[in-house]
Amino acid sequence: MSQQADKPVSNERVEAQYEEYLMPIWKSLNVPIKRASNCTVEDFEGNEYLDVFSGISVTNAGHNNEAVVEAAKEQLDEFVHGCTYVHPNEPAAELGEKLAETTPGDLRKSFFCNSGTEAVEGAIKLARKYTGSKEVLALEMSFHGRTLGSLALTGNKAYKSEMAPTINDVAHVAPPYAYRCQMCDGGPCSCACAEDVKHVIDTHTADDLAAVIVEPVLGEGGIIVPPEGWLSRVKEIAHDHGALLIVDEVQAGYGRTGEMWASDHFDVVPDIMPQAKGIANGLPLGAFTASAEVADAFESGDHLSTFGGNPVACAAALATIEQLEDGIVDNAREQGAWLSDQLAELEAEYDVVGEARGLGLMQGIELVDHSGTGPMDVAPAPDAKLAKHVAKHLREEKIIMGVGGFHSNVLRFQPPLTISQKQLSRTVDALRDAIEAHRGDSSA
Ligand SMILES: Cc1ncc(COP(=O)(O)O)c(C=O)c1O
Repeated sequence: MSQQADKPVSNERVEAQYEEYLMPIWKSLNVPIKRASNCTVEDFEGNEYLDVFSGISVTNAGHNNEAVVEAAKEQLDEFVHGCTYVHPNEPAAELGEKLAETTPGDLRKSFFCNSGTEAVEGAIKLARKYTGSKEVLALEMSFHGRTLGSLALTGNKAYKSEMAPTINDVAHVAPPYAYRCQMCDGGPCSCACAEDVKHVIDTHTADDLAAVIVEPVLGEGGIIVPPEGWLSRVKEIAHDHGALLIVDEVQAGYGRTGEMWASDHFDVVPDIMPQAKGIANGLPLGAFTASAEVADAFESGDHLSTFGGNPVACAAALATIEQLEDGIVDNAREQGAWLSDQLAELEAEYDVVGEARGLGLMQGIELVDHSGTGPMDVAPAPDAKLAKHVAKHLREEKIIMGVGGFHSNVLRFQPPLTISQKQLSRTVDALRDAIEAHRGDSSA
């Protein structure tokens, strides 16, 4: 019998059960959750937290958005499962049509799976099938998931140690990371990192390139926004080499950046677009969408997911998209612009804020330590310790803030897109206090 079974449900009991029965995962900023509503998360002791991270950028329409919950409940009453391979279901059919309308350009046909990593892996399979080629170029510092294929693409050894495949068809190229740019010799941005894509393809691949995969804004890498012209140049280079451009919108999509798709900011239509996270506001669902020409490279039996296209998740996704289109993406754009100004002020005010950057409600601030220089001496040293102190301070103030980035020194603002200016203002004030309180701590 469980050693916890006779105790009342509490933060402590849930954490103890995690410790005892679940595999150990990173948990330094845990907040056990009993219920959640819009931008607020409540633990088992009645503590209410302002959620500025949305369960890693997922509950874009607000926790427990009523319309989404209602749509899922209605479908639950009809039926829960009927594998799309055997039983075509209406919510999946409707969602397919909706995505054809909502996604950019000629993107038209979707495949439904259950997570971001599956969406990425499916997109790679489709690119291989369509082009007849095998290799894939990805970005250093990128994140595409943790199953073996997407882990091979992920450009960060922190996620790979002892687990990533050792033989693969993947090459990596420098990301469009202006703050620590190693390409433009300290001068104004000339998008040299886009040209480097061509160089790496020409020198590191074997004329067998199926796809170039990029995040339109790097999320886990540290909220890195590419310069203007970068994405379109990368697409051009990919096509010149007979490869497709896969734009991984898993984290940046579904209104996060103040447009429905981050690709929209750059006026680029991906050849294949993996999605997940915000798609169903928290129900497990992933998708990848391609033009009819590319999608039709798949033949029956080429790809399948037992749960993919689950009607409850698809019904929730339809309601989510409706909610996002009904003013929530606009709110992300407006509040994002306001937040961006506030964070720029913090950058001007505090040395330790190396750079504030982002689009919409996908904003980050990179914390640095001027007593050292960072990789390649291009900017002050990343200060991961300070980021941890600040996030901990904020949690004590009942604000859940993400920490990430390739150097673990980026505070991530990725709240539900329904957040109000008042709530953001509370966050910025608390952040200022936290920086004031801890800015000397790292060197101490
Ligand atoms: C850009 C991107 N792609 C793929 C993934 C993997 O998604 P999942 O965790 O749903 O497998 C993530 C997750 O953070 C992501 O940010």
